[in-house]
Amino acid sequence: MIQDLTCSKKELVKYFLDREMLIDSDILSRIKVAESCDELDEIKKELLIGAGASVKGPETGGSVEIISCYDKEPHKREVQHFVGYFNARYNALKAMLMRRQEMQGLTSISRVISRKEKDNVSIIGLVLEKNETPNGHIMLTLEDPTGKVKVLINKNRNDLLALGRDIVLDETIGIVGVNGDNIVFANSLLFPDIPMTKELRKSPEEEYAVFIGDFHFGNNEFLKDDFLKFVSWLKGDTGTESQRDIASKVKYIFLVGDLVEGVGIYPGQEKDLEIDDIYQQYEALTEYIAMIPTHMKIIICPGNHDAMRIAEPQPVLYKDFAESIWKLPNVVLVSNPAMVNVGKKEGFPGFDVLLYHGFSFPFYADVVKGIREKGGQDRSDLIMKFLLQRRHLAPMHTSTLYLPDAEKDYLVIDKVPDFFITGHIHRAAIANYRNITMINCSTWIPTSDYQIKLGIKAQPSKVPVVNLRTREARIMNFGEKET
Ligand SMILES: [Fe+2]
Repeated sequence: MIQDLTCSKKELVKYFLDREMLIDSDILSRIKVAESCDELDEIKKELLIGAGASVKGPETGGSVEIISCYDKEPHKREVQHFVGYFNARYNALKAMLMRRQEMQGLTSISRVISRKEKDNVSIIGLVLEKNETPNGHIMLTLEDPTGKVKVLINKNRNDLLALGRDIVLDETIGIVGVNGDNIVFANSLLFPDIPMTKELRKSPEEEYAVFIGDFHFGNNEFLKDDFLKFVSWLKGDTGTESQRDIASKVKYIFLVGDLVEGVGIYPGQEKDLEIDDIYQQYEALTEYIAMIPTHMKIIICPGNHDAMRIAEPQPVLYKDFAESIWKLPNVVLVSNPAMVNVGKKEGFPGFDVLLYHGFSFPFYADVVKGIREKGGQDRSDLIMKFLLQRRHLAPMHTSTLYLPDAEKDYLVIDKVPDFFITGHIHRAAIANYRNITMINCSTWIPTSDYQIKLGIKAQPSKVPVVNLRTREARIMNFGEKET
């Protein structure tokens, strides 16, 4: 029984000092007297995982700035919101395409229709229809705010045919071609794309970023031992000398959604749950996240299993459900998608990091021939490249659920990132496209029966790690098996 106030406070201060943490004096003055050992333990736990800014870890100077984060209040949507949404998307992507030299002579579709045959024309439109003709040509219908026109991609144009086959409905493209009678014969096909001139930014300091996701906490197969190994490495307790050196320089950890398994996500899910209460799932998960050294900044976006609407953009995790995570001192919560800047320092602009959980990925893995035939979901690199070229995270209407905002399409990739970070398909992968490091994060659960039905072949417990000074990347394996 501890009844002496001073004694219990001393014990608390010592407890946190042993963990290289200091408690603010103002919070200490507000701590109530613990009347039992159990209560003292509760206070320790509450402070460890829930004291917000009042528990401070060693400061390492890691900087996180939120560039874009969806924070709109929910409101009713009507038909005009969809019209405004697609207009906003068209205008944003058109502005990107218009910067291309090939689009110098841009003409609206209504003017193209009134132009003479055999004139050279450039148009930008949203793909309304796409068909393959009996002769093997690709026929598109492009639409802009002024009208519609057919576009033919000739089957003998090998340079265009593969690109044409991978076009999806609703994406915005540019066409340079020759005018016919109510048809344009394509000579070039342009995507909004990433500029070739995108620089490869490198931090002046050796510091590391680590990428994780898809905890699905509450699932009865959570790979606890693997995750504890990961934490042990982050703390510098395990690993080779060079691995421990890397751990000592980790400043940023990105966590891209599906923190918890959720409840009622799919039929029969209850048999897969160790924790069947959504509040308890978040609370129990917080104890694991709180094991990560507090000087590492953890940037978290939600995913489709988290306790909120599935439609994108998803706001930050709701405080009602995930209060314990909100209170962690080193966590930055953002929407899905979102963009943050990390590592900014004097003379260096930092890295812009686009986070997207990746709910649209299985759709493109199946629908786009050039991805499906090369491995589908096994090729997150191709999916990510496809989306970067489109400058949109879900260009086709049915590929994800979304809430249309009339003034802006939040799924447009308007700012070119340095890192594009995703998850959802539970596979660890790192690739580069025009100096953008594309990373898909793995998971901390093995492949479940439900996931097999979704075509997921998980590579659990693998963690991409990037040296921000050199941009060299590696995948560290904290699992038992090589997969
Ligand atoms: Fe997911």
